[in-house]
Amino acid sequence: MSKSITFIVQPGGQLRGEARVPGDKSMSHRSIMLGSLAEGVTHVKGFLEAEDALATLQAFRDMGVQIEGPVDGCVTIHGVGKHGLKAPQKELYLGNSGTSMRLLSGLLAGQPFNTVLTGDKSLSGRPMKRVTEPLAAMGADIKTTEKGTAPLEITGRAGRLQGIDYIMPMASAQVKSCLLLAGMYAQGETSVTEPAPTRDHTERMLSGFSYSVKQEGSKISISAEGKLTATDIDVPSDISSAAFFLVGASIAPGSDILLKHVGINPTRTGVISILRLMGAGIDILNERVVGGEPVADLHVVYKPLKGIDIPEELVPLAIDEFPVLFVAAACAEGQTRLSGAEELRVKESDRIQVMADGLHLLGVDAQPTADGMVIQGGGKIGGGVVVSHGDHRIAMAFAIAGLRASAPITIIDCANVNTSFPEFKNLAKTLGLALICEESADGKGS
Ligand code: S3P
Repeated sequence: MSKSITFIVQPGGQLRGEARVPGDKSMSHRSIMLGSLAEGVTHVKGFLEAEDALATLQAFRDMGVQIEGPVDGCVTIHGVGKHGLKAPQKELYLGNSGTSMRLLSGLLAGQPFNTVLTGDKSLSGRPMKRVTEPLAAMGADIKTTEKGTAPLEITGRAGRLQGIDYIMPMASAQVKSCLLLAGMYAQGETSVTEPAPTRDHTERMLSGFSYSVKQEGSKISISAEGKLTATDIDVPSDISSAAFFLVGASIAPGSDILLKHVGINPTRTGVISILRLMGAGIDILNERVVGGEPVADLHVVYKPLKGIDIPEELVPLAIDEFPVLFVAAACAEGQTRLSGAEELRVKESDRIQVMADGLHLLGVDAQPTADGMVIQGGGKIGGGVVVSHGDHRIAMAFAIAGLRASAPITIIDCANVNTSFPEFKNLAKTLGLALICEESADGKGS
């Protein structure tokens, strides 16, 4: 029976000490995908042992790839080459993971076998036309539900995909990566032009596997020529997980933390830029490059925050961090305004509505808009019972809000924290958050 998890946070406290948050989720997915398609053996360390990345790992096992681990973040992938995947015996179940589903749809469109991709309730409600439409223009055959959602029934069109020149209507690394992976099996060149920079881990990692990717301004191109050569990958800590503590230390007086070995790829550091604009005390120390990705230690000391208008160009660079940034805004003096972030409405939950509802319940003046939120910060954050709607980042964001609350906050429906950050509760407690985690089989807590 699946467990229901409830977080209960006692109000107040501060964060102090050192922590290393787990490996980057985006890079962990891609390490399995590209390692599987490579020739030779790829060793990954720092792999994120959480449900989303494990769903990708299982999918490749189901397609005949021998993968050892993970053990303490180490995975060994015996690559089968670009044309070595085998038809899975059953549908590929991808749980809560949009990255798995969208990237795999591109990769599987050009295989010599058929596949069906399924997911949990949240993933089955998320838009897939953003990938199936451009893939159809390449000659792919993918059926969705009438609403354009999963299950995706993919009829492999090996040798029959055609490259396209796609101007992407939204800033999405998942769509970009999907089309680049399809382009590895298409005739001619496949190009994607992005309206704003999005995370570039696919491009960087392809280069790490010696596969040629061309970048001219905002246009990224790939072709079917060449092969992937196995390599070793060192996955840094996930800045999206670090973000909860970056905000926690920035809102709780007396906090002083050091987060080690965090990935600071410039397509991911929007959270640092936004917090710094709000006045946060974040220092980037010991910058280095590990396996083609910039990494650093982040030192955060509490400083009072002020409200800002969040620059729209930072939105794609902080896209997963808004739930906890809304909490920062609630603690900042004055008004914070976010716009240009309509993508938040189609994440694991509608993150604009769900966060506005929860903040409201805690007594915060948070007005949702079509593409963002307006928050009047600096008032009191009360206690109460909020619902995460099964969204991992909503659950963790409200847990962090406890640091500035005046009464306990109970957060319902937190099991999906395991999709990205199973160690959250232990690390949060070690750093100083008064968090209790209750598990029950009946969904009521104990
Ligand atoms: C991801 C891209 C982002 C992000 C998601 C992971 C990726 O989604 O929200 O958590 O690994 O490519 P979009 O590309 O849809 O914005």
